[in-house]
Amino acid sequence: MRLIIATNRAPYNIKKPKDDILLEKSPGGLVAALDPVMKKNQGIWVCGGEKLLEDYGLTLPYPVKQVKLTPKETKYYYEGFCNTQIWPLFHYFTSRYKMDIKDWGFYKQVNQKFANQIMEIIEPEDRIWVHDYQLMMVPKLLREKGATQKIGFFLHIPFPNLEIYRIFPKRYEILESLLNCDLIAFHTESYKRHFLECVDHFMGHDVERVDNKIIYKGRTISVEALPISIDYKEIEKIAASEPTELKLAELKKMYAGQLVGLGVDRLDYTKGVNEKLEGLEYFLDNNPEYIKRLSYIQIAVPTRSNVHDYMKIKRQTDEMVGRINGKFSKDGWSPIQYLYSNLKFEDLVGYYRLADFIIVSALRDGLNLVAKEYVAARIHNGGQLILSEFTGAAEEMPYRALINPFDVTSISEAIAKVLKTDETIRYKSMSETRAYVKENDIYKWLDKFLEHLG
Ligand code: G6P
Repeated sequence: MRLIIATNRAPYNIKKPKDDILLEKSPGGLVAALDPVMKKNQGIWVCGGEKLLEDYGLTLPYPVKQVKLTPKETKYYYEGFCNTQIWPLFHYFTSRYKMDIKDWGFYKQVNQKFANQIMEIIEPEDRIWVHDYQLMMVPKLLREKGATQKIGFFLHIPFPNLEIYRIFPKRYEILESLLNCDLIAFHTESYKRHFLECVDHFMGHDVERVDNKIIYKGRTISVEALPISIDYKEIEKIAASEPTELKLAELKKMYAGQLVGLGVDRLDYTKGVNEKLEGLEYFLDNNPEYIKRLSYIQIAVPTRSNVHDYMKIKRQTDEMVGRINGKFSKDGWSPIQYLYSNLKFEDLVGYYRLADFIIVSALRDGLNLVAKEYVAARIHNGGQLILSEFTGAAEEMPYRALINPFDVTSISEAIAKVLKTDETIRYKSMSETRAYVKENDIYKWLDKFLEHLG
């Protein structure tokens, strides 16, 4: 059985196309999760892009078919409908939601291109797996073109509750399209419940419901909660590799004698980076004994830099880092080291191994794979996970210090607590968390999805 997966984002970006041509793994949880899946399975990855890898003579470890997007499509479909309409709304940022009437037409047009591309390569025994909010019209368009194969859909972001979803002008069209799948899966039971409530509310006349199954136009659709994961063994291997050991040794020298906190986020307003920095500021204001003792490293991965709200958040974060460092810097020490970069994975894992704790402060997040990567990288145990209660991971993962990132005192108290936690407890809870993530890795997620898809 071949797996045809479809995602908007190509797994690798072309870096510096003018002189040296390099491939850089695309940021974000979706690619982090699907790259190992495709390396292990027979299949084809259908993805979008303005620049095509094949035009640069670049090949990947698995077959890729790219759908070429025009700059206008990128503007209205990707920057517009995907990232100024669906993204803010599905993450409960209703005030950032902005409708441009032109976006929808381009969204459908690009989704049609994906459906056409899939129809060109599809064989009778294949399974089609459509991913995420950028491609939600693809299932319907595939059926319209005659696809009879099993179609699965996985949403990598939250599915909002009924009152939020109600705001979405294309609420009927999207639900109706998704009901052309055989399996629709989300990260958590909450997202699944929201989806079923929306189906009942908006499509109630046309569907029948039997528990988690929806019967629509004679077809039965399963709806499941399947939290995504990581390639645990591979990350463990990288954590023990020579490049990571070298990076760790370099970092240990730089941060000798310091306690180290870490944040790793795409610089997205949903990630709560500025809220986290304010929490850190509040912590240092109230726990001055940690001045010159605690270093916080924020790795901010550039993302969607042509979208207005992302340009704004970048400016605000730059300013906030400057202001907080200005306030507390002393004798050559500053509390925040800020790296605006998509690091090589081996180096990133070096930071994971160094940090005494990590703060995931998302204001809303589908799951958050950084939390799981950190856990997998802690090959010598220790290390603590401070996790926002607004992430899918908080609903799923055991042994984490939960925070409400909207509340500076909550962040500050969690930092204080993890810094004071006894070493035996720290080691015990990290080893139990590691056992959980090891058991529930990306391959188990894949097996479960395929089992439900049938
Ligand atoms: C999230 C989304 C993915 C997306 C990633 C990076 O994880 O769920 O679909 O690929 O962010 O965002 P980008 O817009 O760069 O693809």
